[in-house]
Amino acid sequence: MWQILFLVIVVLFFMFSFVLLFGAPYLPTLTKQVDAAVELAGLSPGDTILELGCGDGRVLLRAAKHGLNAVGYEINPILFLVAYLRTRRYAKQISVIYGNFWNKHWPAADAVYVFLLPRLMPKLEFKVKQESLVKPRVISFAFQFPGIKPKSVKDGVFLYEL
Ligand SMILES: C[S@@+](CC[C@H](N)C(=O)[O-])C[C@H]1O[C@@H](n2cnc3c(N)ncnc32)[C@H](O)[C@@H]1O
Repeated sequence: MWQILFLVIVVLFFMFSFVLLFGAPYLPTLTKQVDAAVELAGLSPGDTILELGCGDGRVLLRAAKHGLNAVGYEINPILFLVAYLRTRRYAKQISVIYGNFWNKHWPAADAVYVFLLPRLMPKLEFKVKQESLVKPRVISFAFQFPGIKPKSVKDGVFLYEL
């Protein structure tokens, strides 16, 4: 019994810590900040938001409640599964994709939402420019692009037009 519990703890620890090799560890955005993000980016029903590292899917769900389409990438298999199952009732609006967003070619989106880490922001700037989005709008919770002035700020959420 104890061996099984130990194994479960080790597996969970590994799942949540290996992500540090690729990006930010799991920490959720609050509803207030998601609403601020939608408002800041001037998104309207029918627009698409792309979330890089969608965690348990809460931002995707909130976006769908605003009438948006939402696509999220998630690299942690447990969180991917949680996000996938939680968002099934909005399957027409929400897609959850398993994998590392740095290695993917992103779908078309009206804005990109992130809650990452300061050290990843320069790499993100490079990747956004590489993806040649039609409207390169990035909404970042908590962390800023070094040397770039945000277009607007609300409740700790920064809007950039790169
Ligand atoms: C700080 S959490 C934010 C979760 C969610 N965006 C939110 O705001 O509630 C960062 C998330 O990104 C995921 N992540 C980190 N690096 C990633 C990568 N390279 N590709 C896909 N997901 C990644 C983590 O597993 C984690 O769920």
